[in-house]
Amino acid sequence: MTGRPLIVAIDGPAGAGKSTIAKRVAGSLGIPYLDTGALYRALALFLDARGIPPVECDALYSALQEVSLEITEKEILLEGKNVGAEIRAPRIDAIVSAYASLPMVRNRLLDLQREQGKRKGLVADGRDMATVVFPDAQVKIFLTASAEERARRRFLELKERKENARFEDVLEQIRERDRADSSRSAAPLRKADDAVELSTDGLTIGEVTGEVLAIVREILNKENHNDAVQ
Ligand code: CDP
Repeated sequence: MTGRPLIVAIDGPAGAGKSTIAKRVAGSLGIPYLDTGALYRALALFLDARGIPPVECDALYSALQEVSLEITEKEILLEGKNVGAEIRAPRIDAIVSAYASLPMVRNRLLDLQREQGKRKGLVADGRDMATVVFPDAQVKIFLTASAEERARRRFLELKERKENARFEDVLEQIRERDRADSSRSAAPLRKADDAVELSTDGLTIGEVTGEVLAIVREILNKENHNDAVQ
């Protein structure tokens, strides 16, 4: 082993199952899980509440300098308050990608994300984990699923939380977020060349988790082997 903390980077479009899988994989490996989407959501919540629109300007820059944002394994603290539930509201679903497309917003979160993995390693999920934030991650996974399957999962999740939603709207929003996340010029959603692509259509959470863990073990075995022969 090279001794550096294990980083597992999981990227993919909205609703591909990244956070559920990443949490389970982190649990099995005994390392922290980092939900980077939560950070973008918290900033969107903060900026929206302050009436700052998603365009790069001085007001946005100042707000990003001032905002206090912390993430622990259990909580996301915005100005000292846990906003874990608020950031999942449909309003945030609708606005987050516009803020996430701005380099100012992305830069604000870069060091914060990298800091989290320094001590114990981590499993992180998002859109640019393998391409931008952790380009040296030992394990890179790109999770996909059809838009319909992803909308179905998101719809059930909203229903469970008693949020009112129509399936057609959820599907349209998923497609819109895919478009926005893939076409932006700053850190667009794309598979890293050295990432393993996994389609989760028709697979259970347990099956996908098992596949990801198998990939992690295979890569770690190879690293150990290479270290041993060097
Ligand atoms: O869970 P879901 O896929 O719905 O979204 P999320 O991971 O909570 O991320 C919400 C939004 O934040 C995404 O649609 C992206 O616009 C943005 N995001 C990003 O740009 N980069 C990341 N690393 C994570 C999220």
